[in-house]
Order: sequence, then C-alpha cells, then structure tokens
Amino acid sequence: MSAEHDRIFIRNFSLTLVGLVIFTFIIVFVARSIHGQLELSENPARETARIERLQPVAGVWAGETGRAAAQAAAAAAAAAAPEIAFGGSLDGALIYERACASCHEVGAAGAPLMVASAWAGRLEQGMDTLVANAINGIGAMPPRGGRRDLSDEQIEISVAYMLDMLE
Ligand code: HEC
Repeated sequence: MSAEHDRIFIRNFSLTLVGLVIFTFIIVFVARSIHGQLELSENPARETARIERLQPVAGVWAGETGRAAAQAAAAAAAAAAPEIAFGGSLDGALIYERACASCHEVGAAGAPLMVASAWAGRLEQGMDTLVANAINGIGAMPPRGGRRDLSDEQIEISVAYMLDMLE
C-alpha cells in the first residue's frame, strides 16, 4: 500500500514538475513575443535635450596652432549652431516642454497653470494680444519666457499649443 502511494506520489510530482517547466517556457515565449511587438516611442524633446547636454562646454587650446584650431572650431560651431532655439523647431509641444512648462506647469512666479479656470480672463484678450504679451513679457513673465532665441513664430505656436491644452 505504501509503495503504491509512493509510486502515485512520484508520478504526480513528476507530472507537476514537467507541467511547471512547460509553463515556464510558455511564459518566456509570450514575454519574448510581446517584447518584439513593443514599439518604443522616441520622445523628440528628450532627444534634443540629450544632444544639447552632449555639447562641449568649452575648448582648450595651446599655442598658435591650437588657437587657430580653436577659432576654426568656434567659427564652424557658430555657422552650424542654429540662431533660433531648438533648431528652429515648430513643434509646439517641444517648445512648451522646454521653455514654458517650467513655470506654467507648476505655477511658478504666479504663472497661470494649464487649467481652463486660470485662463478665463486672459482668453478674452484674443490670441494676438496673448502672443504679443508672451513675446514682450507680462508681469513676472520675462519676454519670451526668458528664451530670447525663440522666434515670434515659435512663441505663437507654443501659445496655440498651450491654449489647445485647456480644452
Ligand atoms: C519664468 C516663468 C515663466 C515662463 C518660463 C513662461 N511664462 Fe508665461 N507667464 C508667466 C507668468 C508669471 C504669467 C502671468 C503674468 C501676468 O499676467 O502678470 C504668464 C502669462 C502667460 C500668458 C498670458 C498672457 C496674458 O496676456 O494674459 C501667456 C500666453 C504665456 N504666459 C505664454 C508663455 C509661453 C508661450 C511661454 C514659453 C515660451 C511662457 N509663457 C513661459 C511666467 C512664465
């Protein structure tokens, strides 16, 4: 009787083990196929920020040759560097995230938060006035949110993006 019990136990135990091993393989397989289907979305704002962070802060030169090299590098950088912020990007979301959100996302310096109630009185002024105020500065908001390299067009696009957020 006891031997019979042991036999049944060992059989069931082995079956359980085999089942678990198969289950493990199924999980691994499912996980791999889900991973294969994932499309990792690229965040353009983060990519631009990363590239900006990687820019050299300063150069070192020694002697006349070094000086000439440094000047050539500086001239090349000046020619390549975009005059306009964020490479002239006209992506309202990107500009907002990088130049406006620091105040408007948290209400810093009394900046109107991105909720409809905070904008009720302001919207009545019309888009042109809002854009002009954002360009010239208003109250505690510095001209262009402190980013002088933002073009008028970029300000207009980011204001439009902000107003879209309110709806
Ligand atoms: C340093 C903080 C700060 C930054 C950065 C900032 N703002 Fe503001 N913004 C404010 C404050 C404060 C006000 C409210 C000013 C007032 O009415 O006294 C304001 C108000 C505004 C208004 C309403 C103006 C009006 O006429 O009522 C607009 C539009 C605006 N900001 C757009 C922007 C845009 C676009 C950016 C990014 C390019 C930006 N802001 C970046 C602080 C900031």
